[in-house]
Amino acid sequence: TRGTVRKFKVWRGDAQGGSLEDFEVEVNEGEVVLDIIHRLQATQAPDLAVRWNCKAGKCGSCSMEINGKPRLGCMTRMASFEPDEVVTVTPLRTFPVIRDLVTDVSFNYEKARETPAFAPPPGVPGRDYRMQQVDVERSQEFRKCIECFLCQNTCHVVRDHEENKEAFAGPRYFIRAAELDMHPLDVRTDRKEYAQNEQGLGFCNITKCCTEVCPEHIKITDNGIIPMKERVVDRRFDPIVFLGRKIFRR
Ligand code: SF4
Ligand code: F3S
Ligand code: FES
Repeated sequence: TRGTVRKFKVWRGDAQGGSLEDFEVEVNEGEVVLDIIHRLQATQAPDLAVRWNCKAGKCGSCSMEINGKPRLGCMTRMASFEPDEVVTVTPLRTFPVIRDLVTDVSFNYEKARETPAFAPPPGVPGRDYRMQQVDVERSQEFRKCIECFLCQNTCHVVRDHEENKEAFAGPRYFIRAAELDMHPLDVRTDRKEYAQNEQGLGFCNITKCCTEVCPEHIKITDNGIIPMKERVVDRRFDPIVFLGRKIFRR
C-alpha cells in the first residue's frame, strides 16, 4: 500500500541562524521520524544534516526535538501523531547548532572528562578484585545509558541558562557519579562530596524532567540524584562525622 502525504517542518540553518522549512512528504506504515528525515534527504533536501547511526535506539546519536519534545528520531513512530498533525523537527536547544539538526554536544564530553575516572584501591592487583553480584546489579540501571544527552538537553538548569553550564555537570554525570559511588572498588574519590562540590548537584531541584525524557527509562532522579543528595545531607548533619571532620582539619 502507498503511504499518505504528511506535513513536516524542519529547522534549517547554522550557527548564524535559520528557520523552519515546510515539506510535504510520504509516510508509510511503521515508519519513524528518522525514516522521514532520510526520505527528505533522498528526495527534496539532499543537504539536510542529521546525526544518526544505529536506527535502533542504542547509539544515542539521533537526539532531536520533535514537536518541542526531546526525543530519539529513530524511536518516535509516525503513528504516535494525529493523522493531520504537522510534525516539527528542530535541533536540541541546549547545545550550539552546527547545521540543521546537528548540534555540538561537546559540553557533555567536557563534563565526562572532568569526572574522575574509576579508581580502585592502590596496591591491589586486578586479578584480586572481587565484586559480589548484588553490587554489580545495584548500578546496572545506570550502565544502560546510551549517552543520547536528552536529559542534559532537557534540564532547565542549563536549557535556558548558558551561564550555569560551567558549574553544572548535568543528570547524565550525576548518574555516573552515583554508579561509581555504588562501586565497592571505587575508593579514591568521595563521589557524593565531588558531586556536591564540583558537579553542581545543588543546582538540581529535582524537577525530574530528565527522567521523563530518558529513552532507557533510567530513574535518574529517584535512583541516582536523590540518594546522592540525601547522603550529602546525612553527612553534613551527622554530629559524629561533623566532629570527625573538624578534628581532621586541624
Ligand atoms: Fe540519554 Fe538517559 Fe543516558 Fe540521559 S541518562 S544520556 S537521557 S540514556
Ligand atoms: Fe535537572 Fe533532572 Fe535535576 S531535570 S533539575 S537534573 S531532576
Ligand atoms: Fe541510534 Fe537513533 S540512530 S539511537
